[in-house]
Amino acid sequence: MMQPFIKLNTLVQALLGLAVSLVVVVGVVLFVSVSGVQLPNLSQGVQEEAVAEVEIPFLKALADPASLWRAPDFALIDQEPNAAELHYGKDLVANTAEYLGPKGKVRSMSNGMNCQNCHLQAGTAPFGNNYGAVAATYPKFRARSGTEEDIQKRINDCFERSLNGKALERDSKEMKAMVAYINWVGKDVPKGEVPTGSGIYEVPLLDRAADPAKGKIVYDTQCASCHQADGKGMAKPDGTGYVYPPLWGEASYNHGAGLYRLSRFAGYVKANMPLGATFESPLLSDEEAWDVAAYVNSMERPKKDLAKDWPDISKKPMDHPFGPFSDGFSEQQHKFGPFKPIKAAKSSSK
Ligand code: HEC
Ligand code: HEC
Repeated sequence: MMQPFIKLNTLVQALLGLAVSLVVVVGVVLFVSVSGVQLPNLSQGVQEEAVAEVEIPFLKALADPASLWRAPDFALIDQEPNAAELHYGKDLVANTAEYLGPKGKVRSMSNGMNCQNCHLQAGTAPFGNNYGAVAATYPKFRARSGTEEDIQKRINDCFERSLNGKALERDSKEMKAMVAYINWVGKDVPKGEVPTGSGIYEVPLLDRAADPAKGKIVYDTQCASCHQADGKGMAKPDGTGYVYPPLWGEASYNHGAGLYRLSRFAGYVKANMPLGATFESPLLSDEEAWDVAAYVNSMERPKKDLAKDWPDISKKPMDHPFGPFSDGFSEQQHKFGPFKPIKAAKSSSK
C-alpha cells in the first residue's frame, strides 16, 4: 500500500536534485562569465578533432612546392660548351639499359634497369630521388664505406647495388658524361647545401612495425597491375629494358641497395607511386607506404657481399637490416621497425 507514495517521494527527490544541480551549473556559468575566468573552448576543440578525423591525410601535399629546389631547364643544356657530353650523360641516366644493360650497345654490365627508374625525370623530379644535392655535397665522407667518396664512386655504388651490376671504368666516356650531367643538374646549389626537395621524402615513423601482410594487400591492389603479381615487372619486347621495372627477383636491385632500406623505399613510393603520384598529390597513406615497403623487401632478390660495409657499426642507419649492431635491437626490428625506439637510443648515445 505504501508503494505509490514511495514512488512519488522518489520522483520529488529526483526533481529536487535536478533543480539543485541546474542552479549550480547556471551559477558556475554566471560566475565564469561575470568573473571573466578563461575556460578552454571545449566545443571548438571537439570540432577540430572531428574535422581532423574526416580529413584524408594522404591527399595533402608533402611540401609547399614554392619552397623546393628546381632543376635547371633541360633546354639550357644547349647553351653549355659541353652540351653534347651533357646530353649523353642525361641519356645514360634515362636509358641506361640501352647502353649498359644485358643487351647494352656499349657494354653489358647491369641488370636492365635505368637510373631513371629510381631517379625520376633523369634525376630532376622534386622528392623523386633527384640529384639536386650531389654537386654541392660530393666528395664527402660516407659511413657505409667509411671513406671519402666522389661522384664516380657514388655512381658505381648504384651500378653495383641498385643495378646489381659491375662498376663502370672511372675514365670511360660514359662515366665522364654521367658525372658532367649530374654536376650540371646541381650546378646552382651553393657548396655544402642540401636543398629542400632533393633526394627522398622522409615518411613519419609509425608506432608499430611495418607489416608485410598488410603490404601485400597494398601491393596487389595498387602496384601489381604494372609491376606484376610476381614482382618481375614488364620487360620491353626487344629485351633492352623495362616498361615497368622489377621490384624483386633476379633482375631487381640487390640487398645492398638503398631501396632495400625500408625508409628509402617508403619515402620513394610515398612521393612517386603508384605512377602518377607526386609529392603534391601523394596516393598512399604513411602506413601503406611502410607496409608495402615491408612486403616488397621481404621477397627474394640478388645478394651482395656486404662485409666491407659500415666499418663503424655504430654508424649503421636505424633501418640497416644486417647485424652486428652497436645497440641491443634485433635484425628483425632494424628491418621492419618500430624504428622510434632505435632512433631514440641512437640520439641518447650521441
Ligand atoms: C633501384 C633504384 C635505383 C637505381 C636504379 C639507381 N639508384 Fe642511385 N640511388 C638510389 C637510392 C635509394 C639512393 C639513396 C638516396 C638516399 O639515401 O637519399 C641513390 C643515390 C644515388 C646518388 C647519391 C645521391 C645523393 O644525394 O647523395 C647518386 C649520384 C646516384 N644514386 C646515381 C645513380 C646512377 C647514376 C644510377 C644509374 C647508373 C642510379 N643511381 C641508379 C636508388 C637507385
Ligand atoms: C601505372 C603503373 C605503375 C603502378 C601502378 C606502380 N608503378 Fe612503380 N613504377 C612504374 C614505372 C613506369 C616506374 C619507372 C619510372 C621511370 O622510369 O620513370 C616505376 C618505378 C618504381 C620503383 C623504382 C624502380 C624499381 O623497380 O625498383 C619502385 C620501388 C616502385 N615503382 C614501386 C611501386 C609500388 C610500391 C607501387 C604500388 C604502391 C607501384 N610502384 C605502382 C609504374 C607503376
